[in-house]
Amino acid sequence: MSSSPDKNYRFEQAGASDDSIQQAHAQLQKQKPDKANGYSFLPLGILGLMCSSVFFGSIYLAHYSVRFDPLVTNEHAKREKPGAVVAAAATPAQLGKKVFTSICATCHQLTGQGVPGAFPPLAGSEWVQGSEERIIRIVLHGLNGPITVEGKEFNNAMASLGGVLKDEQIANVLTYVRQEWGNKAPEVKAETVARIRGEVGNHPAPWTAAELLKIGQ
Ligand code: HEC
Repeated sequence: MSSSPDKNYRFEQAGASDDSIQQAHAQLQKQKPDKANGYSFLPLGILGLMCSSVFFGSIYLAHYSVRFDPLVTNEHAKREKPGAVVAAAATPAQLGKKVFTSICATCHQLTGQGVPGAFPPLAGSEWVQGSEERIIRIVLHGLNGPITVEGKEFNNAMASLGGVLKDEQIANVLTYVRQEWGNKAPEVKAETVARIRGEVGNHPAPWTAAELLKIGQ
């Protein structure tokens, strides 16, 4: 037997019994720190405290926040005058302006002045401020051939728009052109457009000015 440390080690290993190994393990386990890797569970008491403060906090807010009403939370907020209309609904003319801007203005221009020799004016037009029976028909089925507007001759064609515009849109846009640019004529109702659309029925050809002058006098 040699007395080199290596040999000694091997000797001791071989001599270790199951019991002594288990004892050694038990000892090692005791030495392990309690808090594995430095983490520890939040003590249940603190967790409970946090949960209940969120819970009771939200009940408190629901009761006392007054929904963060600016009248309470903002010293500069002004109270609405009693009876004031908060959001005014758009009038028929305001709705009609949208239709005019997107469709009619291409030819009759935003100013309603039209284009000399090509598109007749709506501003100041005796047609626009005259019988609603005629202008509803012009928008529903179109207009073709010679027409005199404000003393000027036009001989062009306007396509029918009855297929793309609903009764209400036609009523709104005609109400707009009858009350804009200094024009003065009563509102056109959607029911009137619906009645004329029903009465005339299918009308494949556009109207002529001569035909329209016989209607709605
Ligand atoms: C593509 C061009 C065009 C568009 C879009 C158009 N028009 Fe016309 N409009 C004309 C032309 C051209 C005439 C004249 C037709 C003729 O010479 O017979 C006319 C005539 C009229 C007239 C009768 C004459 C007058 O000046 O008072 C009215 C009213 C009218 N249009 C309203 C409208 C309205 C409302 C719209 C939109 C919903 C519209 N038009 C869209 C081209 C157009």
